[in-house]
Amino acid sequence: MSHNSIGRRNQLKALKVDLAAFINEKNCHPILLRLAWHDAGTFDRHAPSDRCGGANGSIRLQEEMGHGANAGLSKGITFLRPFVEKHSPVSWADAIQMAGALAVELAGGPKLAMRYGRVDVEAAAVDGNLPDAMASNPAQHLRQVFERMGFNDRDIVALSGAHTIGRAFKGRSGVTNNGYGDEAATRYTKSSAVARADGRAGVGMPGGRSWTPNWLTFDNSYFIESLRQPREELLWMATDQALHEDPRFRPHFEEFARDQDAFFHAYAQAHKRLSELGSNFLFDITV
Ligand code: HEM
Repeated sequence: MSHNSIGRRNQLKALKVDLAAFINEKNCHPILLRLAWHDAGTFDRHAPSDRCGGANGSIRLQEEMGHGANAGLSKGITFLRPFVEKHSPVSWADAIQMAGALAVELAGGPKLAMRYGRVDVEAAAVDGNLPDAMASNPAQHLRQVFERMGFNDRDIVALSGAHTIGRAFKGRSGVTNNGYGDEAATRYTKSSAVARADGRAGVGMPGGRSWTPNWLTFDNSYFIESLRQPREELLWMATDQALHEDPRFRPHFEEFARDQDAFFHAYAQAHKRLSELGSNFLFDITV
């Protein structure tokens, strides 16, 4: 390994230590995972490589952050900015993907085989490539959107299992009436709730509606909980519903509900691919 790569690797290692401490303290795992997904998920494999979107840091740009699908995500950029500045010249694209991967791992999810060295782009992705939770034919819509990224049915179901962590808010996506603060929270999203993998208290900002009771823990409860009725005070969108109603999605959904290892394996593979969509790697470093 050259002198240069050792320096870069040490820099990325230091960033990882700082980010892990911050995520653990703030309980902001979900928003950082969503930020990483929304940076990468604009990728269009049919578009020319200079306009294909993907995990290239473009979500930091005001124009892209202003896209409807990104409502509420600017907080993720505000969280990461001091770390990107402190560890300069680390790229935004790397910092965003590192934070998303750490969010999964620190919440108890699978270890992700991440690589770093992405170059940032200076132009926003095109608007409208991310999925719409209110689509009128959700199964068809999901296939259309994820086909552009190169994902198949099993990948779609596995990646959607990321909703095992996190919440939706009235003032962001508007898919729920639960807003910010304890008054608008469910029993699972109040400041007194315990949702972390290590059983410690702390929810970051209270409020919103989660898919699962332990929404700061990355496990297969997204799949298990959805099969349990009634789902009081939990979120379930039409696109979530499509995953166990559609005959080609359902076998994967049921397998992941039965077998957490199968979910983790499929998720880890799909997440790694997601994190590299459209990325231009100047070097190739694992930390
Ligand atoms: C399958 C299509 C998908 C749709 C329609 C969808 C839609 C949504 C919506 C509407 C929210 C609520 C946002 C808010 O109100 O704050 C949300 C949150 C979230 N999504 Fe998805 N999503 C999809 C796939 C994914 C994927 C593939 C991932 C990651 C790999 C992901 C990760 C998350 C996370 C972690 C949150 C919680 C954010 C937070 O708590 O701040 N989603 N998603």
